[in-house]
Amino acid sequence: MKIGSQEHRDAFCAHFMQTYIEYDPKTLPWPELQPAALDRLQSVPFWEEVFYTERRAGAIVAAFTETVGDPVVKEALALQGEEETRHANLIRVMIDKYGLDVPERPMEDLGPDIATRFKDFGFGECLDSFLGFGLFKIAWQAEFLPREMLQIFETLMFEETRHIVFFINWMAYTEAQRGWLARSVSPLTSLRYYLRALRRMAGLANRGKQLNDGKNFAATQVSMFLDGFNFRRFLEDCYAENARRMSVFEPELLRPSFLPQLAAGALKALRLWAVRAQVEPNTVALPPIGGGRLPEGAAHPVRAEQ
Ligand SMILES: [Fe+2]
Ligand SMILES: [Fe+2]
Repeated sequence: MKIGSQEHRDAFCAHFMQTYIEYDPKTLPWPELQPAALDRLQSVPFWEEVFYTERRAGAIVAAFTETVGDPVVKEALALQGEEETRHANLIRVMIDKYGLDVPERPMEDLGPDIATRFKDFGFGECLDSFLGFGLFKIAWQAEFLPREMLQIFETLMFEETRHIVFFINWMAYTEAQRGWLARSVSPLTSLRYYLRALRRMAGLANRGKQLNDGKNFAATQVSMFLDGFNFRRFLEDCYAENARRMSVFEPELLRPSFLPQLAAGALKALRLWAVRAQVEPNTVALPPIGGGRLPEGAAHPVRAEQ
């Protein structure tokens, strides 16, 4: 299948439409929470941001859908817009049911360049989802909330995975339609958008720091799920979960590859660092993120040589 062909467009749009799940957030099996679990849910510092992000996502996708002429792409985009709005409604239902103290922030002006807004949003979703995969695995393993509740969020995670697969294919299709020049600068375009997404995330972390009395926002979030947070393990979880979640999609569709490749390179470096530090204990002091253990299944380099 040629990327940018009509066959490609039909495949990624049809796959998106066919994997839609029908549900109403109000009638989902929301569990009754014991006081300790309710306390944990109420102490999560990022519900306001999640609620706002989902409302904003619905507004951006709906506005962009209006500008699209291709009826096949338009239908799929309209569905994504509805799903984002449903995510916001799901969070609203949770806020009401469990009495969370989450104000509804006024919506920002989306500006005149809605196409760039949509692309920024799409790459931002790729970044958020990749990190979210690892975070969700940690929450699941730590049983941060009852399984019935996490199962509801599992549906949401699946939908976000569909969104980013759809987005990456739409982006490649759109670039290919623009011709060879756009195709040849595509990795640079991705890098530019990912850097913008990272900058926005850094801005968010800063805002969170102020809200959390100067504590690091991301670290606060993660340490709520698991004591003794280890960066390498987190990255391994992100990478493995991304591969697992992406494996259920049609093999002919493109997947986001930039962040998994970046993570694979970083993990290789971290493992090498950890192994070197074990071989030469007097020369390299392990940083806290390395963890100091050999990767599973790795032979000890010294013993292997004997
Ligand atoms: Fe969403
Ligand atoms: Fe989404």
